Amino acid sequence: MSEGAPLQLVQSAAFARGGNRLCFVDPRDSRRCIKVQRADRSPRQKRRQAPPWKRLRRLASFDDNQQEAATYRHLQAHCGEAAFSLIPRLYGTVPTSLGPGLCSELLRDSDGRIARTLKHYLWERGEADSLGSVLEAFAQHWTALGMPSRRLLLHNIVVQCDANGPRALKVIDGLGWPDFLPLANHLPALARRKARRRIDHLHQAIAALLARRQARGDFGIHGWLDESRRLC
Ligand SMILES: Nc1ncnc2c1ncn2[C@@H]1O[C@H](COP(=O)(O)OP(=O)(O)OP(=O)(O)O)[C@@H](O)[C@H]1O
Ligand SMILES: [Mg+2]
Repeated sequence: MSEGAPLQLVQSAAFARGGNRLCFVDPRDSRRCIKVQRADRSPRQKRRQAPPWKRLRRLASFDDNQQEAATYRHLQAHCGEAAFSLIPRLYGTVPTSLGPGLCSELLRDSDGRIARTLKHYLWERGEADSLGSVLEAFAQHWTALGMPSRRLLLHNIVVQCDANGPRALKVIDGLGWPDFLPLANHLPALARRKARRRIDHLHQAIAALLARRQARGDFGIHGWLDESRRLC
């Protein structure tokens, strides 16, 4: 690849497809992933579909990659290294054939497979007890750092496992306060209170998913990673 030429990505090779982005294993380094906006979910399109009062926001606020990069700059300044036991590392942006890509740490299990989402893990196991201390440590650390996020969704958290079971939970999407003027960025006590509420909601979401599974309900659209994709 000549310097500056976009990295060639083929849509069908994505290992995962979220509601907004396609995720690829970085062809240059399999320990990294690259996320690009889905063509049918461009920032312009999302702004057009937003409620009228949200359409006043800058276009960049509808771009998940730009939002995530901005949140990481804030986290780097306020939490530093401590945050990286809760979120993947970010390596910056890279031009790709499918538009700007955001490059970050690809979270894998110790056997090399791409880690499952918390939603996938819970659905497969039908219980949360095996997460025990890992979930508790995550909740405590998340709250203590006042980590900025929207609601913590089960398909936006991955469970990294080793041979003995779950080792860590990491949030791979949904970072940053959703507020128009996020006061919590300047008031650590408020950030911790809001982060605590996100954790309360996460516990509720876990219980609700397990109840839905028990009632033979639907898994939903997002958060399942086929075994073949986990081997990418
Ligand atoms: N760093 C990562 N390590 C491992 N898997 C990841 C990583 N980032 C994303 N994934 C996988 O890719 C899926 C989609 O990624 P992501 O949530 O970033 O997309 P999105 O389109 O922004 O999501 P949403 O639908 O929540 O808007 C995740 O549910 C997860 O399975
Ligand atoms: Mg997501």
